[in-house]
Amino acid sequence: MAENSAAAGLSVGIIMDGNGRWAKKRGLPRTAGHKKGADVFDDITRYANEIGVRAITYYAFSSENWSRPKDEVDAIMDLFGQSLKRLYKYRGENNRVVFLGDRTPLRPAHQDMMNEIEHDTSTRTGMILNIAVNYGGRQELLRAARQIASEVAAGTLAETAIDEAAIEERLYTKGQPMPDFILRTSGEQRISNFLLWQSAYSELVFTDVLWPDFTRNDFDAAVREFRGRDRRYGGV
Ligand code: IPE
Ligand code: IPE
Ligand code: MG
Repeated sequence: MAENSAAAGLSVGIIMDGNGRWAKKRGLPRTAGHKKGADVFDDITRYANEIGVRAITYYAFSSENWSRPKDEVDAIMDLFGQSLKRLYKYRGENNRVVFLGDRTPLRPAHQDMMNEIEHDTSTRTGMILNIAVNYGGRQELLRAARQIASEVAAGTLAETAIDEAAIEERLYTKGQPMPDFILRTSGEQRISNFLLWQSAYSELVFTDVLWPDFTRNDFDAAVREFRGRDRRYGGV
C-alpha cells in the first residue's frame, strides 16, 4: 500500500499553525489548542508512516516563540515533554527521530530524552521524523557559518572547500532529502523562519484548516496539490 501511495518517498515539512485561533473560536484557553494539536501530530505521524512518507519535519516551536506569555510557553513545553515520553516508550514504528534546533535552553530532562531517543533510533531505516524545537532557519545557518569559520581558522577546512555541500553537512538536516513540499495550516502564507536553506525549491502548500482540525484527508489533499505542481528548478 505504502509503495502505491501518492505520498510514498516524499519529504514533507509542516508548519503546524492555528492552535490559538482554534481554541479562541471555542472560548477555550490557547493551551487547549496546543493540546489538541499534539494529538493531531500523533495521528498525522502514524498516517505518514502508513503511506510511506520518507521524511517529515514538524515545526513545533520556533526560536521566536519564546516571546509568548510565560504560561503559554510553559504549557507548550509540558506538552512537548509528554510527546517525548510517548516517543520514548513507543517502539512500534521504525522511525529515525531527529530534533532540529538549539536544545541548550530546553529543560534538562527533555534534553536527556531527546538525546536518548535520537541515539536509540539513529540506525532505523523507516521514515525520518524531524521535530523542530527552538528552531530558526537563520540561527541554523549562523551555526553552520560559525562552524565553518572555526574549522577554517583551525586549518582543518580549506576556504576553497566551502561549497553548498559543506553548508548542508552542517545543518540539522544533514544527509536528509530536501522537503518536496512545505505545508502551512491556518491560512497564513509565510515561512516564519522554517527551513530557509532546505526550502529553496520546495513547493509551498497552504490550507485554511487550523492545525487542531487537520485530518488525514487534509494531508491527502495537500499531497494531491503538490502532485499537480510543475517543478522546474530554473529550467523550462
Ligand atoms: C501554532 O499555533 C503552534 C505554535 C506556534 C507553537 P499558534 O499558537 O501559532 O496558533 P495561532 O497562530 O495563534 O492561531
Ligand atoms: C510558526 O508559527 C512557528 C510554529 C508553527 C512552531 P507562528 O504562529 O509562531 O508564526 P507567525 O508568528 O505567525 O509568523
Ligand atoms: Mg501562529
